[in-house]
Amino acid sequence: MSAPKGRGTAPGARVPARAGERRPGARAGALTAALAAADTDRVVYDLTGIERQYDSLIAELPGTEVRFALKACPVDEVLGCLAARGAGFDAASPTEIAQALRTGVRPDRVHYGNTVKSDQDIAEAHRLGIRTFATDSVEDVTAIARHAPGARVFCRLATSGEGALWGLNRKFGCAPEDAVRVLETARAAGLTPAGLSVHVGSQQMTAEAWQAALDLLADTLTALAGRGIVPDHVNLGGGLPALGYRDRHGNPLDPPLDKILTVLREGMERLRALAPVDFVMEPGRHLVADHGAVRAHVARLTRRRQPDGEDAHWLYLSCGKFNGLYEMDQLTHEMVFPGHPETADTVSAVVAGPTCDSDDAYGEGRHPVRVPGTVTSGDPVWILSAGAYATSYTTRGFNGFGPLPCVCVRAHRSPDDERP
Ligand SMILES: Cc1ncc(COP(=O)(O)O)c(C=O)c1O
Repeated sequence: MSAPKGRGTAPGARVPARAGERRPGARAGALTAALAAADTDRVVYDLTGIERQYDSLIAELPGTEVRFALKACPVDEVLGCLAARGAGFDAASPTEIAQALRTGVRPDRVHYGNTVKSDQDIAEAHRLGIRTFATDSVEDVTAIARHAPGARVFCRLATSGEGALWGLNRKFGCAPEDAVRVLETARAAGLTPAGLSVHVGSQQMTAEAWQAALDLLADTLTALAGRGIVPDHVNLGGGLPALGYRDRHGNPLDPPLDKILTVLREGMERLRALAPVDFVMEPGRHLVADHGAVRAHVARLTRRRQPDGEDAHWLYLSCGKFNGLYEMDQLTHEMVFPGHPETADTVSAVVAGPTCDSDDAYGEGRHPVRVPGTVTSGDPVWILSAGAYATSYTTRGFNGFGPLPCVCVRAHRSPDDERP
């Protein structure tokens, strides 16, 4: 089979924005201008877009404290602008805690959100001033009591992870009856049983998963009350979606964000009626994904016979799984090929990164998307909605392809917004 040819817009390549579309950063002026001005590869963040995204979340869920999951974008400028807006941070290690504190936020706006930590990690976090820890086991909570005496603890409940691109459902969290036991252990050890937490799975695509998590929280708060434990906070975790991703076939994912936010608001009201709790969230990708983009370039467009005897196009880019697009196994990103009009002839091509590793391809190398058939080596390509986990999930230079430099821009750009 010859790879089919087509004209115009195609899955995976740029498509026109839909009416009423809530995709704040995908074509924001500052981001586009910075991508257009770039003559070498880089990750670009639009700080103004990230600030607006934060403001919008706070407006949608009033009274919720945001602790940005900094693993999603450990870039000092991004953390600094979120901290200035009022955000705190969810940190997963002493190194992340130290980076969060360098923004100038007070330690009480940073929590240790990783249930996995050694005695040394707990002691170091405590030394750095951290007094709030996530936990999900008697072993961990006992260690917190020893190395961070008097701390506040949140017990993480396990969720199914169904409906999410990344479920996070086995490694973390415990059953409601175990959560009661963990928080009773905490109280007996002199800790404050401060809250419950959940994570519905990253890029959660359904409102039903949030409903199930809120039901779980309600049942567990009731069970805790029966033991005389009244937490003062509920942590709703991460999982809020990015809006600009595409599935393995290049079609928009289109998560039901408005419905999710409605379920959250209603569920929070219900929980407030059960216990006098305040709310924390730890969004990661939702705040940064759509406001970051990668400027990469075309290594080569080839056409080769495949093991099944059929010809296929492969488009190799300078950026892939090991230098910024780690999540390419589950999703594809919208691509823009400047200089190649949307009406250009397109070919169906498997898109892959530059390394000698066969995992370095979208959709395990099995799901072609349409790309301009005219691209040549060196042509720039903009990879949109790539701001989450791009700078953290990157190797130090697998095959010699090192981490991309990072540039931050604002709607009104100043030289101070950049770093090499
Ligand atoms: C404890 C915790 N909180 C928050 C997040 C951020 O999740 P997301 O990027 O889906 O919002 C993660 C991601 O793995 C996490 O492990």
